[in-house]
Amino acid sequence: MPKLLVIHGPNLNMLGDRETDIYGNANLKEINDLIKKEGSSLGFEVDAFQSNDEGSLVSKLQEAQAKYDVIIINPAAFTHYSIALRDAVAAIKKPVIEVHLSNIYSREEFRQKSVISSVANGVISGFGPQSYILALRAAAQLVKSG
Ligand code: DQA
Repeated sequence: MPKLLVIHGPNLNMLGDRETDIYGNANLKEINDLIKKEGSSLGFEVDAFQSNDEGSLVSKLQEAQAKYDVIIINPAAFTHYSIALRDAVAAIKKPVIEVHLSNIYSREEFRQKSVISSVANGVISGFGPQSYILALRAAAQLVKSG
């Protein structure tokens, strides 16, 4: 069974409570439950990881190379400036899909640039928790096509 890792960056542990007008009312556990349900129906074994710490996210990405077939990451604020995270994504020889709940291109100017996108296989942004579901479907295709 292919293994998929979902990584959530800083402040995403506050979902459901944080800026609900932008990010919605679902908390991270609910989103992870949704991801796991859809993931298993697509045939994936799913693990989820959240950290507020850049180094922990880099270390998790480094470990993921050997353990997972595909990675979905919402780098949150690190999207916009973390070269360390970008380099960690670039180093991985497995597909990586970048996800955002909000449409970063319709928000403040500083959010409209992602340093991750150019090294990700693709980006899904703006569909709330459904962004993760769309990313899972893309992941299933990527794994199938090798
Ligand atoms: C986010 C968008 C980022 O700009 C922001 O810093 C987040 C969440 C999203 O999912 O829409 O924390 O990645």
